[in-house]
Amino acid sequence: MQSDSSWTGHRFLQETLFRDSEQSVAQPKTRICGICEPNQTIIPLPAPADIPLDPVILWDALDNRQTIRSYSPDEMHKWELSILLHYTQGVREKKNGSHFRTVPSAGALHPFETRIVVNRVDGLFPGIYRYLPLDHALVREECHSGDHESVAKTCKNTALVSSSAVSFIWTAVPERMIWKFGPRGWRYLFLEAGHICQNLYVVCAGLSLGVCAIGSYNDDDINCILGIDGESEFCIYMASVGRKKE
Ligand SMILES: Cc1cc2nc3c(=O)[nH]c(=O)nc-3n(C[C@H](O)[C@H](O)[C@H](O)COP(=O)(O)O)c2cc1C
Repeated sequence: MQSDSSWTGHRFLQETLFRDSEQSVAQPKTRICGICEPNQTIIPLPAPADIPLDPVILWDALDNRQTIRSYSPDEMHKWELSILLHYTQGVREKKNGSHFRTVPSAGALHPFETRIVVNRVDGLFPGIYRYLPLDHALVREECHSGDHESVAKTCKNTALVSSSAVSFIWTAVPERMIWKFGPRGWRYLFLEAGHICQNLYVVCAGLSLGVCAIGSYNDDDINCILGIDGESEFCIYMASVGRKKE
């Protein structure tokens, strides 16, 4: 007799088995990422190519990657945020109508939206912002319930987000993946979220910033704050970032 949770896992695996016949060869049917509304002001971020980064040895960054859960009260710079967004969801090449980013994505479909909770980033008011990968820019977002400080309360460890300089909220839009891959696309959503967060860890190691992946949050509450329905778009992963304490 299987426990409920292994039954859930078993069903997920069975219902998302790879079937070549289910893969669509049609052109993309869905928008690759969200766009801003006409009333939203686009806030450009420093161009990553113009940011003079100290060289980092990749092997050192991988060896030094670790979870840090408490952060100093110091601000982060906007250029650091720009780098974190670029290496987690930034566009590195546009070719034949596809957008290739700094993380891999099945079919280059990139089914995510990135929102950030800004607590302490120079030049940005505290609040929730959405990242526009094609413009490498931000737009300010309204909270649909509570305010940006409510996001911390959705997490089991509230201090992760409340003490962070900035926190990342990645949401998945399944239709961007499912139209092409069918049920198998559901697996790709979760695999791809992992790629994004791993890049965040490695880049934070390179910039000597602290970072913590967050999977323990109340799904309904975070979706409600963001104004998403939890079905056509849902929060898939979060992470907090800040300067390390001395
Ligand atoms: C999918 C996932 C979810 C996680 N969720 C949380 C979380 O909700 N809260 C937390 O404090 N750490 C969370 N972590 C961080 C892990 O606890 C951490 O990676 C682990 O303790 C190993 O430490 P290391 O990253 O320094 O190797 C999560 C990590 C992963 C990969």
